[in-house]
Amino acid sequence: MLDRLREIGEAAREAFSSATDEKSLEDARVAYLGRKSELNRISRGLKDLDPEERRRVGRATNDLKKELAALCEEARERMAEGARRTGALDLTLPGRVPWVGRRHVLIRTLERLEEIFRTLGFEVALGPHIEDDFHNFDALNIPPDHPARDMHDTFFVEGGRLLRTHTSPVQIRVMQSRRPPIRIIAPGRVYRNEASDASHSSEFYQLEGLYVDRNVRVGELKGVLTKFLHELYGQDVGVRFRAGFFPFTEPSTEVDLQCRVCRGRGCPVCKGTGWVELLGAGMVDPRVFEAVGYDPDVYTGYAFGLGVDRISMMMTGTDDIRLFLENDLRFLDQV
Ligand code: PHE
Repeated sequence: MLDRLREIGEAAREAFSSATDEKSLEDARVAYLGRKSELNRISRGLKDLDPEERRRVGRATNDLKKELAALCEEARERMAEGARRTGALDLTLPGRVPWVGRRHVLIRTLERLEEIFRTLGFEVALGPHIEDDFHNFDALNIPPDHPARDMHDTFFVEGGRLLRTHTSPVQIRVMQSRRPPIRIIAPGRVYRNEASDASHSSEFYQLEGLYVDRNVRVGELKGVLTKFLHELYGQDVGVRFRAGFFPFTEPSTEVDLQCRVCRGRGCPVCKGTGWVELLGAGMVDPRVFEAVGYDPDVYTGYAFGLGVDRISMMMTGTDDIRLFLENDLRFLDQV
């Protein structure tokens, strides 16, 4: 029995010292130290030996097991050290973080806006991206020769139709299909046939708002928009209302936010002015009510349209609107 143990020892030492990779080392471990190894079988058979024999073989078996376990461990370390030296395994490398996808920053912005306006009592309405002249222009008091059409450089499609240049046509569609009171927002993509730069893109998102009822006043418009901007950016943001002009609202206002990219110091996004125009708004022009068959002597209302991309830019400190559409994951992963 002791001779057999010596033979096993020799073969095992040879196997552990010549193991060159994880696989051969594991094979040697299973063969000489595993549950089905001869050494283990001898251990299990010890109880059948007479006491004197049992003591001698038992000690030799245990010694051999310990020695082989140590050899096995040594071989494992030798391999790890070799791998470190050849650079195959660099333990100083940071771990790999699995990349997890998420919704686009513009969609997340839209969801945030919808959430705020829902708490203010607005419901979501949608309209088509391919519009007709009536809904995009005429009904909004922009007749064919109106100079405002120049500001909406339009993509025309077949059949005299066009890609909507703003979300205001959704106002018309909603008013045509229901009676007041109406309190809706209409988020969506709009299109302008114009050159792009850091703050302009030929495709961008707007969010329209419309409230129509009896006795709606200017103060409510100002209150809702101020409340909205404070919810979004905090109570201390700079907001200013300037007199503006839109054919479909009277009076009209443009609402600016102190630039969040440069904190008002001046940068390409705010064209050095420290302010970014976020919103157009005003009281619904009586001619718009006439176009949808509402009596302007009975109903009043306000409307607003905001640039969602600008809001995203201000929320994330992004200085180029084009980044939102380029789908560069290195950018999208950061915002
Ligand atoms: N539709 C206007 C635009 O795109 C914004 C606007 C909407 C202004 C509603 C006033 C009221 O410029």
